[in-house]
Amino acid sequence: MEKSNLNADTIRIDSVKFHWSNKNDFKIYVPEFNVARGEKVLLLGESGSGKTTLLSLICGFLNPISGDIFLNDEPINNLSARKKDQYRCDNIGIIFQQFNLLPYAKVIDNILLPLYFSKKRVENIKDQKETAANICKSLRLPDEVLNMQASKLSVGQQQRVAVARALIGNPSLIIADEPTSALDKNAQSIFLDLMFSQISESRSTLLMVSHDESLSQRFDRVINLDDILKEGD
Ligand SMILES: Nc1ncnc2c1ncn2[C@@H]1O[C@H](COP(=O)(O)OP(=O)(O)OP(=O)(O)O)[C@@H](O)[C@H]1O
Ligand SMILES: [Mg+2]
Repeated sequence: MEKSNLNADTIRIDSVKFHWSNKNDFKIYVPEFNVARGEKVLLLGESGSGKTTLLSLICGFLNPISGDIFLNDEPINNLSARKKDQYRCDNIGIIFQQFNLLPYAKVIDNILLPLYFSKKRVENIKDQKETAANICKSLRLPDEVLNMQASKLSVGQQQRVAVARALIGNPSLIIADEPTSALDKNAQSIFLDLMFSQISESRSTLLMVSHDESLSQRFDRVINLDDILKEGD
């Protein structure tokens, strides 16, 4: 690698190619894409353009056909499946497009879940329940929801639980896949204020994808997916 190991990028993509095995002819080629430590980046793209696919590659859920993805200078795609899972649990807070909450588990257990899988995240906090309650307070989730089943919450509340779960234990990278898609404009704006203040507090890097350009001014950098995807085999 001619690039220095001392660079401050949280995400560095180098010549990544991906296509689904046989189901369709969708393919991705990303020659280069970097996100600096602490940066808040919004990635815009239409439905079906490959936003979730790219995030899944960055999180190591999918493997590139060729090329490399470095997270904090660690080549995530070269790790064994077990190490990749551990790396992800320790370092990435993920807000999935469909939240992926455990529907029958209590809200508090959903939020604490990453701590069962990551000693590193446990070490970043003193009191687990108190930290969860504080994050919920700052996200304006009322105390009484903590002991409710996740499936009994409104969609907006479920999105906040997904954010709280992503943030607990201060992972260095937050990946958010359209976390505001189910909210109206006013609720969206309040939700983003809350999420941003939480992310600033933990000094995390944020990569969020959306198809909604009106969110742009809140971010350090806005990229169109079309501008980083190139033609390729
Ligand atoms: N598991 C899968 N198997 C095969 N093809 C898939 C799979 N998931 C997504 N695709 C295809 O990959 C392409 C990109 O999908 P992707 O979900 O990344 O788009 P997106 O930009 O996130 O869309 P949206 O804004 O609707 O969430 C689409 O053509 C889709 O059909
Ligand atoms: Mg998507």
